[in-house]
Formats: sequence, structure tokens, C-alpha cells
Amino acid sequence: MTTPAPLFSPRIGVFDSGLGGLSVLRSIRQRLPHAQLLYVADSGHAPYGERGDDYVCDRSLVIADFLYRQGAQLLVIACNTATAAAATAVRARYPDGRIVGVEPGLKPAATQTRNGRVGVMATNGTLRSERFRLLAQAHAAHLDLRLQACTGLAAAIEAGEVDSDAVRERVATHCAALRAQDVDTVVLGCTHYPFVAHHIQAEMGPDVALIDTSDAVARRTATLVESLAASDQTDAEPTAAALWTTGDLPTLQGFVQRWLDFPCTLATEPA
Ligand code: DGL
Repeated sequence: MTTPAPLFSPRIGVFDSGLGGLSVLRSIRQRLPHAQLLYVADSGHAPYGERGDDYVCDRSLVIADFLYRQGAQLLVIACNTATAAAATAVRARYPDGRIVGVEPGLKPAATQTRNGRVGVMATNGTLRSERFRLLAQAHAAHLDLRLQACTGLAAAIEAGEVDSDAVRERVATHCAALRAQDVDTVVLGCTHYPFVAHHIQAEMGPDVALIDTSDAVARRTATLVESLAASDQTDAEPTAAALWTTGDLPTLQGFVQRWLDFPCTLATEPA
């Protein structure tokens, strides 16, 4: 009788300022269905994009500590703003932490655009960061980038209802600014925005390409998983994804029910 091959179930910690990183979690689950997923929504401290870098860095370190204490073998910073403000500090604290960050998809945008005018929707924190400046220099120096700091949009999505008037109004305002600049490609540079991509597409029109990097982040995560030493691998059957929030539990619950199609356990995290 042959022994069945163990199912490879790496423990992957994922976090965001709140609900947005669930767009990344969903893609990771699709690529790595046997992974044991741990997720922290820091909704009690969102929006990161309208906070200072030190604040975001401190919160990111607290959450990274929490997730590694829970046994995470890899960490995905599923937040552009936190990646910009804190990835360096988190990597310094966990040099062997196998950390994946998220950055606005300027590189894929450069290959998609036809007229060279690319809109970037992101938080103020991301757009003003040195990391973004370097990214733009490396991948978009030849493009005409139109930066749209989407003040208030992540906060409106954090209320849990993506079709609310507040969300629609924010989307309409920010998209009107980009439409006026004749962009043909829009980078969703915040992990909250894929949840309102239908509104953004409607505002921008069908010919504008939207760039969402969730799957690219999941691919990168899968590559890092392959690099885990055999001794680091667990072969337990995957359980439900474990989600914690520092904010309102019913809001997370409602969002998960609408957007995730795999089992999750939910709890509040007092961190
Ligand atoms: N989801 C986060 C990002 O990708 C930011 C949202 C916020 O401002 O908290 O940047």
C-alpha cells in the first residue's frame, strides 16, 4: 500500500489596515488551497493611508509579531501603504521572515497602456513614499503618470458596504479627476480598491484597463513557499482560515460572507 503524499500546508500570515487585504487573501487561497491562512484586519487603526509613517510602522511591527507568534512561516504585507512605510523595518526585525510586500502595479501598467497615460489610485501615504518614487523611476520613467490620492475611499469601504452612497461618491470624485486626464490604464494601488473595481470600471468606461496585483502577489507567495525547507513544512489538512480584527467583528463577518468562498473563523484581536 502506498502512503499518500502529504498535503503541503504552509502557515501564511497576512495583514492589512483592514478589509482590503482580503482581496489578496482570496488570491492566495486560490493559488495555495492547502495553506493555513492567518489574517489580521487592523480596522481599529485604519485608514493607514491617512496616518503618519511612524504610526503605520509601529502597527505593522505589532501585527507581524502577532502573526509570527501564531506560527506564520511567511508574512504577506497585503497593504501598499504598510509596505511603503514598514516593509524595511519588518524585514530588519525578521531577516528570515520570508516577507512579501505589495506595490502599485506600475510594471504591468507599462505593458498595458497604449497612450502612455496611466492613472494611479492609491493612498496619500503610498504616493508620497520614497518607495513609490523609486518604483516609478524603475518602471514608469517613460510614462505620464497621473497620481490620484484617493482620500476617504478606503475609510468608506471599511464601513463594510461597497455599494454605499459614500463609496460611490468617493469613487466618482476620484475617477472624474482621472477621466479628465485621458488615462487609458488605472492602477489599483490600494488593496481595498479591487472590491470597488466594478464602480471604478463603470466610472472610467469599458476601454480603460484596471491593474490589480492580487494574483501577482499570490504567485510571489507561492514561489516563496516552494523555498521553505522540508523541515519547515507541515502536512496537516488545512483548516479554516483564521481571521482577527482590531475593529468591528460583525463588519468583518459581513464582508467575509460576501467576498470569500472558503471557511473562516473570526475573532477580535486586542493588539
Ligand atoms: N489597503 C491599504 C493599501 O493597500 C490602505 C488602506 C488604508 O488607507 O488603510 O494601501
